[in-house]
Amino acid sequence: MYDVNNIRADFPILGREVNGKPLVYLDNGASAQKPQVVIDAITQAYSMEYSNVHRGLHYLSNLATDKYEAVRGKIAKFLNAASENEIVLNSGTTEGINMVAYGWAMPRLQAGDEIILSVMEHHANIVPWHFLRERQGVVLKWVDVDSTGALDPQAVIDAIGPKTKLVAVTQCSNVLGTMVDVKAITDGVHAKGVPVLVDGSQGSVHAPVDVQDIGCDFYAITGHKLYGPSGSGAIYCKAERMAEMRPFIGGGDMIKEVSKDAVIYNDPPMKFEAGTPGIVQTIGFGVALDYLMDLGMENVATHEAELRDYTVQKLSGLNWLQVQGTTADKAAIFSFTLDGAAHAHDISTILDKKGVAVRAGHHCAGPLMEHLGVTATCRASFGLYNTTDEVDTLVQALELAHELFG
Ligand SMILES: Cc1ncc(COP(=O)(O)O)c(C=O)c1O
Repeated sequence: MYDVNNIRADFPILGREVNGKPLVYLDNGASAQKPQVVIDAITQAYSMEYSNVHRGLHYLSNLATDKYEAVRGKIAKFLNAASENEIVLNSGTTEGINMVAYGWAMPRLQAGDEIILSVMEHHANIVPWHFLRERQGVVLKWVDVDSTGALDPQAVIDAIGPKTKLVAVTQCSNVLGTMVDVKAITDGVHAKGVPVLVDGSQGSVHAPVDVQDIGCDFYAITGHKLYGPSGSGAIYCKAERMAEMRPFIGGGDMIKEVSKDAVIYNDPPMKFEAGTPGIVQTIGFGVALDYLMDLGMENVATHEAELRDYTVQKLSGLNWLQVQGTTADKAAIFSFTLDGAAHAHDISTILDKKGVAVRAGHHCAGPLMEHLGVTATCRASFGLYNTTDEVDTLVQALELAHELFG
């Protein structure tokens, strides 16, 4: 039984006021709030269990190492990876995708080779590929979304040519909420012999993920959107791809031996984890994943689908508001603009006065903004603790903004 009021009680920040109003936090797409268990785990790790990992033989170092390393297994379970050795721990999706760009793609792609992207990618899944375009003459090929914001898997598959070396797509648009059938894409793209990277930064938050079922080669996630600390994350790399990848960052921990003339790298996945990692962040991330797995991601998905449907119905009554991305298969993420000249920033300022936190701007999705013909939108993005009452508060605040600017 999914009791949203009990769940809300787990998140202390949800009890506070903002501008004299109860906080209505609808900026989960940017970063989610943290349950008390995660906050407690961070306090415990720093106050009683802190040490560096993988280095010492003393009690605290072993304790911290065990707690840190246990998270690899939790992530493997959360994503249903075949082995925890397919999980590289890192600071989040941005680092994960950069690792693939530098470590896997740069050594094997040449001028004229192609990478296929959808037009609704986040900059984290665009800019690392621009590096290859700028430095190596790699060509970026873009696949459009349709007028509802949906991405047709066949359009991605059809875009593959003899020079295509990688397809990199998001599982869920951080702007439109569109869910992408990454399994259908992977099946079709693999049939043409091309690997697939999935940006799971948003997709992993809203529904259960099974990387073996999807079949993708890389799947990147971010801890802070999954109710864990910022500076934590991971990327799943299929064992074959990991074996092909060069280390991206060099330093301590990722080596077995270093001499003046040579270096012998550690075995994967440690080979890709140089330097002192985000120890406590990762431990907190593990606790957040435990929390999510206890709730059950199917239950989270059901709750958020109810919120989505309720919001669709409420926003459709506002004929002066345009929602971008109307496909039915979407997460509870709503980007919108209002009739008249009001800028998204002005609207979000009015909402903030009512305690409603939304994001306004380009949402790190320049190509999508260009495709939609807008410079900025407001975005309300829902999480596992939001309620239909909060949707009502959002609508009232929007009505006020419309009155003021309309
Ligand atoms: C779809 C998507 N990909 C990637 C990222 C980047 O995540 P991070 O900043 O945690 O690395 C985000 C963050 O908003 C996102 O929404």
